[in-house]
Amino acid sequence: PTPHAGATGGDALVVVAHRGASAYAPENTLAAIDRAAAMGFGWVENDVQRTKDGRLVVIHDDTLDRTTDAKRLFPHRAPWRVKDFTAAEIARLDAGSWFGTRYAGTHIPTLRQYMERVSHNHQKLVLEIKAPELYPGIEREILKLLADEGWLDPEHLKNRLIVQSFSADSVRTVHDLRPGIRTAFLGTPRVTQLPAYARFADQINSGETKLSAGYVSAVHAVKGPHDKPLKVFTWTVNSANDARRVAGFGVDGIITNAPDVVRRAVSSS
Ligand code: G3P
Ligand code: CA
Repeated sequence: PTPHAGATGGDALVVVAHRGASAYAPENTLAAIDRAAAMGFGWVENDVQRTKDGRLVVIHDDTLDRTTDAKRLFPHRAPWRVKDFTAAEIARLDAGSWFGTRYAGTHIPTLRQYMERVSHNHQKLVLEIKAPELYPGIEREILKLLADEGWLDPEHLKNRLIVQSFSADSVRTVHDLRPGIRTAFLGTPRVTQLPAYARFADQINSGETKLSAGYVSAVHAVKGPHDKPLKVFTWTVNSANDARRVAGFGVDGIITNAPDVVRRAVSSS
């Protein structure tokens, strides 16, 4: 059966592997995007932050202790903030063992390593600028790296990249710097405020618990900066039941740790 089509016009529902296929491999590692690719998933999501010496790295938390062995390697560096460690220190960390022994020795990727692997895998990326208030100027640095890696070429801009953040300021900055980039605001603004967000965001990527069919329709009724209806992706949807429920609301994309579960659910609905 054809996957459910988003209400904004014909496109199949997009399934995005959240932090990679993070139900099956350690989040935000190259192993997690390789796993998504092996399962046949084109779209992956990640989280970008910055080291003490200015390197962009891919990790969700703004501290290192949950997903690495930072506590063991650097016992006196609590609270193990990403921004207090150099890239060389971060490269020494094991970002896989916490998830399973077979991932021992997996590292936190730099954004450049990550982009090269996404390109190699022919994947598409929802790039989240995480906690930008901690990293002044990070938007410009991310865009420079994306440009270096060829990701701002016109053919990629249209279909291959979405930049998102919980920070409206950060999303607006990205849009102002490179208006051609597809952007998403992470959150669920009130309907009356949607036109203000639509000046700089092409999508509203909303938490699944906040969604309703009425809200999705209200978002679709507003046009974004590229004069197309705003889209809605929702996160983090990991069960078949929830996937069917949000698909029924007419969302355009589902961000999930278990893309296989979601695809099965929405293909058979
Ligand atoms: O892509 C949406 C989702 O990643 C936002 O929440 O905390 O998992 O980054 P979080
Ligand atoms: Ca994220």
